[in-house]
Amino acid sequence: MINKIDVARPFVGEEEAAVVREVLLSGQYTSGKRVRAFEEAFARWNGSQYAVAVSTGTAALHIALEGLGVGPGDEVIVPPLTFFATVSSVLYLRAVPVFADIDPDDLCLYPASVAEKITPRTRAVLPVHLFGAPARMDELLALAEKHGLLVLEDCAQAHGTEFGGRKVGSLGQAGAFSFFATKHMTTGEGGMITTDDPNLADLARRLRSHGMAGRDSHEHLAYNNRMTEMGGAMGLIQLAKLDELNDRRIAHSEYILDRIQDLEWARLPRPRHACKHTYFWCPVIVRPESGRSAEQLKAHLQAQGIGFRHRYAEPLYRQPVIRKLHPEAAEQHLPVVESVAGRVIGLPNHPGLGREELDRVVEAVRSF
Ligand SMILES: Cc1ncc(COP(=O)(O)O)c(C=O)c1O
Repeated sequence: MINKIDVARPFVGEEEAAVVREVLLSGQYTSGKRVRAFEEAFARWNGSQYAVAVSTGTAALHIALEGLGVGPGDEVIVPPLTFFATVSSVLYLRAVPVFADIDPDDLCLYPASVAEKITPRTRAVLPVHLFGAPARMDELLALAEKHGLLVLEDCAQAHGTEFGGRKVGSLGQAGAFSFFATKHMTTGEGGMITTDDPNLADLARRLRSHGMAGRDSHEHLAYNNRMTEMGGAMGLIQLAKLDELNDRRIAHSEYILDRIQDLEWARLPRPRHACKHTYFWCPVIVRPESGRSAEQLKAHLQAQGIGFRHRYAEPLYRQPVIRKLHPEAAEQHLPVVESVAGRVIGLPNHPGLGREELDRVVEAVRSF
């Protein structure tokens, strides 16, 4: 029986356990001094003026979009290859997601396709830095400036990713991060909004907590989306480890990708622009013209005891909820995403892998 190599797992140890225990025994569970300390440390680390901690990455997207003033009927340009939460945050505000195509090399929003989708109703662009690769922020920011659009970066898969020497989440008007268990760092569940705008930071703090402006004054309709104090304590420890965890994640991904780049059936998506890629996924695309399928690769990896990721099998505009709410969007055909969706497999690249395990991953892929 061969040991299975997991595709991902959280990297949490005694230090996190100790601080969470300390908070549990203190009886102070709601957002407090530890969450504030985590916010300050995260803002500093990310090169942003402010950071506002929330309950999930989805809440971070929703609150940031609402705080930026996106509302009913506004069009928000989104990529069709991402986790659905990117789009549900737009739908919750009764705004309209408008899908643009993706770049075949970085799999993020393709600026020329975004330009084609801009209308007088466009209010914002929501690039996702997918799998740890940054979207082409220079071109997207230039487009946004030309047309007076807001830019919210979905950084849920890109903690520490850089474009032009700056961390993502510090480039647009706001960034949204997720601390779900298998992300680059975790607080169990959790999220963070980053921004340089003091008014947005202030509004986001109210929107995460019942829309309260004072102890008994509710100015906005809003849920409770606060981060727990346990999450804040855990986040501080995880943030201190993040750069090292990322270094290992990057080294492991490059080790694998360098050794499989000659395979004819495989296409390795890599950004053409200079950047720091933090490889949330170590992605391999099964070329459509190879006659092979992602399903076959999955079966092969499974038989070898190699974990994998396989998500976003169809462009998001085909999801049943989009068909229901925006049936016209479901009818479109964006050529690049249609040729990629369902064909991307993520290989194990997490920071805990040893050389022997990395070699097993390489061998398994090469023997496909
Ligand atoms: C691109 C993207 N956006 C948003 C989210 C939502 O984050 P969360 O699961 O913390 O709500 C995720 C996470 O899973 C994600 O991958």
